[in-house]
Amino acid sequence: MKIKHLAPSLLFVAAMPMAHAQATSPMQLQRAYEATAGGPGQADKGQVFFTGRHGGEWSCASCHGQRPTGAGRHAVTGKSLEPLAPAFNPKAFTDERRVEKWFRRNCKDVVQRECSPAEKADVLAWLQTLR
Ligand code: HEC
Repeated sequence: MKIKHLAPSLLFVAAMPMAHAQATSPMQLQRAYEATAGGPGQADKGQVFFTGRHGGEWSCASCHGQRPTGAGRHAVTGKSLEPLAPAFNPKAFTDERRVEKWFRRNCKDVVQRECSPAEKADVLAWLQTLR
């Protein structure tokens, strides 16, 4: 990777402690996760992660759907969820605090721990391929 491409993401990471309910974008978030993970997000791994059960009862897809381009349906409450794929939901991944809150909560439900930056980068890479 060229320094030219790396610089913006490093700047973004440096600015992160100041960013609370900060406006962001799916691409900006992905770059930040990649910078922390030390490598690019992989869409195919993201799909496997998202649809897999990880030894528990639920996958991400249990609530968000196998292909989260349409409304999801909460596995417990039946509540309708906004599509996760940014091409189908302009609000998805635009509020950093909201994204982190849901990642934390949902990852604990599915993988019994928080998702790593690499896993988040993979999932975001995949979601952005959905058109
Ligand atoms: C038990 C149901 C459930 C499961 C399982 C689940 N989620 Fe969610 N998720 C939600 C709900 C509810 C919201 C809030 C969405 C809304 O209000 O429309 C949400 C929102 C999100 C958001 C915030 C998107 C945004 O910018 O608004 C992300 C990111 C997310 N989920 C990722 C995941 C990932 C990754 C997994 C698997 C590790 C997962 N979720 C599994 C219920 C679930």
